[in-house]
Amino acid sequence: MSVDGEDLHHTDSDEQSVSFVKNGPYVVKNIPLDAEFNGAGASEKEYILCRCGQSKNKLICDGTHHDVK
Ligand code: FES
Repeated sequence: MSVDGEDLHHTDSDEQSVSFVKNGPYVVKNIPLDAEFNGAGASEKEYILCRCGQSKNKLICDGTHHDVK
């Protein structure tokens, strides 16, 4: 669908998705994590998984990827 030449995309807030941040973590939405973890800042709806292996709060990204580049 297009309005004034701009594409409009249907967005469903319950849509499941996994994406990644360039040189950063995975962003997971609406996919239950079958594990207990201390995910400060994480929720059942969204959590950020470490992709660099350097987080001190694995599985969750703690921002260390900024330091290790
Ligand atoms: S991706 Fe952020 S700490 Fe690993």
